[in-house]
Amino acid sequence: MMHIVLAESEIELVPDKIKNHPAIKSENELLDATLHHSAMKNIEDAYRRGRPDIIHFFLNNVMESVLNKKGMLSTYIHTRNDELIHIKPETRIIKNYNRFKGLFSKLLMEKAVPENTPLMWVENKSMEEFLSEMPHKKIFFSRRGKRIRIHELGDIMNEDVVIVIGGFPYGYFSESYVSMADEIVSIGDEALTAWIVAMEAIVAYENVLKF
Ligand SMILES: C[S@@+](CC[C@H](N)C(=O)[O-])C[C@H]1O[C@@H](n2cnc3c(N)ncnc32)[C@H](O)[C@@H]1O
Repeated sequence: MMHIVLAESEIELVPDKIKNHPAIKSENELLDATLHHSAMKNIEDAYRRGRPDIIHFFLNNVMESVLNKKGMLSTYIHTRNDELIHIKPETRIIKNYNRFKGLFSKLLMEKAVPENTPLMWVENKSMEEFLSEMPHKKIFFSRRGKRIRIHELGDIMNEDVVIVIGGFPYGYFSESYVSMADEIVSIGDEALTAWIVAMEAIVAYENVLKF
């Protein structure tokens, strides 16, 4: 089984501090840097926050993978506020971005969607807590990691593996949990998108399993 987590993802409800700014249409919406740029000037880490688009692209790719359809992938989104979103493999990710944002703001407020038989639910959990519960090999992807070639990825994967990819547009993983990695690997000198890195990892694992 592959467990894939998008760590420190920049998805959150509009912070209280800027709820009254004219750029904010509803206090129940997700922070979105494209729409709320002017309101975000006075919040910490503004340069990297408000990026639900990263989570949207990531989920649309990994949930549609052959690995997921074969029931061999567990997908998690960890957020900057230490929420851990669990997503059932059968979940169909909404393609329309505005509707996706609407569903995820509801998820962050109500902690589970749909209400009665949830496909996605939120737990309060840090990366340290999540990783310490995972007894499997943990491979972090980072440009600061050991440079390996993409075709070598399968060689470092065990039958059960945890893949950690950053869900933020700039910067690197927090120091608080990076020491929990068994391996930190870079697959290129370029800054790649989280969903491309995820798909390289997934395809490498599918090859290990001889799909
Ligand atoms: C847009 S990047 C984050 C920005 C970061 N400064 C960087 O360039 O890697 C999103 C995530 O994709 C992964 N990633 C991007 N490029 C990578 C590379 N060349 N090798 C391994 N992982 C990479 C990392 O997990 C990273 O946190």
